[in-house]
Amino acid sequence: MAKQPTRPPSPATRLTSAGRRPEWTGTPGQPGAVVNPPVWRASTHLYADTAALKSGPSRNEDGRFYYGRRGAPTQWALAEALTELEPGLAEAGGGTMLYPSGVAAIAGAVMSAVRPGDVLLMTDNAYEPSRVLARHWLAEFGIETRWFDPLDLAGFAGAICARTKAVLLESPGSLTMEVQDVPALAAAARSKEACVILDNTWASPLGFAALEMGADISVMSLTKHVGGHSDLMMGSAAAGPEWYGKLRRTAQVLGQVVSPDDAALALRGLRTMGVRLDRETASALAIAQWLAGRDEVAHVLCPMLPGAAGHELWKRDFTGGCGLFSVVFKGRDAAARNALIDALTLFGIGYSWGGFESLVTPLDPAASRSATAWPLPGMEAADRFGVRLSIGLEDPADLIADLEQALGAWAAA
Ligand SMILES: Cc1ncc(COP(=O)(O)O)c(C=O)c1O
Repeated sequence: MAKQPTRPPSPATRLTSAGRRPEWTGTPGQPGAVVNPPVWRASTHLYADTAALKSGPSRNEDGRFYYGRRGAPTQWALAEALTELEPGLAEAGGGTMLYPSGVAAIAGAVMSAVRPGDVLLMTDNAYEPSRVLARHWLAEFGIETRWFDPLDLAGFAGAICARTKAVLLESPGSLTMEVQDVPALAAAARSKEACVILDNTWASPLGFAALEMGADISVMSLTKHVGGHSDLMMGSAAAGPEWYGKLRRTAQVLGQVVSPDDAALALRGLRTMGVRLDRETASALAIAQWLAGRDEVAHVLCPMLPGAAGHELWKRDFTGGCGLFSVVFKGRDAAARNALIDALTLFGIGYSWGGFESLVTPLDPAASRSATAWPLPGMEAADRFGVRLSIGLEDPADLIADLEQALGAWAAA
């Protein structure tokens, strides 16, 4: 009989064991048994005879060979591991789809939920390519997108109409960091039978139990925390049985598949995601606290920071954080802000976040908003130029020293 743990494993324990089925890794004690599912490269799976070939495609689920586009054990192990991180999802018969990028996961989720004539409600702090999907693609298929203030619950409830079939939330917004009241927004949307899609990349299931909090589909860019090493692109969408079935059909029609090599890298990243997130969260908090005490800084947009916007909701709903937050400087212009970025020595300048190394990008979100304005309410008009920091695994004292000398360049510019 298989050995059973004495109590339900906590998330930290699940991270080390998730997705490691003996049929994919071998049975301990037998030749060839390994810890990680090997990279299983396959387009063609071979059948014994025509009867087996005929019965092959009739059942459409992971864990059963059919054809490479439906994956093989390396991809299945990653999908199953991600499902195991969503409390109760596996038991409910739900699952996780994998996509070649986070953007593909957002598109796959949205396209599973809307059809011509429908309305999609999108939070105004959504990641820019989500807006591009709406404006330049869904619109051409007769799907209308309306943007709403991420923090205006009453406005959101009033915006839901009979044609609203899906809602895209992002919390915290990955640039401006507004924390949305996801349980309340989701309840309002579901009462009108709209599908609630949440971009949960910032927190991951370790920091925010998206499906338990009311989302129908929880999307992540695995490129960020799960990969964790800035060397792969991937996305995922997790959902209960009804939406998981729709996600599968859409992904299969659109031919979405991820490579086994990237799936193996993502699975490797997942094993250490918990400790990386803990460390990045602690460092980000220390750095955010230090920045909040500086005269040059107008606002630290970091929901983990006591007193910062969104902190109370974050404390209520989240079980963890990450290293991503933003800072807005007092007055000055983009040139001064750019001088600060260029003076940094320990922060790479580049897109993405969630890797082991710290990154910085300019924060100029004004052009990516339509329902709300930047600077946000409560901010001075002159305080509009900032940076977004992704704090990695370096010593936070070194990062603070680097920021201090770069603030000197900002002042001198
Ligand atoms: C919040 C958020 N969602 C989704 C994505 C898209 O992920 P990917 O780059 O893997 O397509 C990003 C990328 O930066 C992001 O920041």
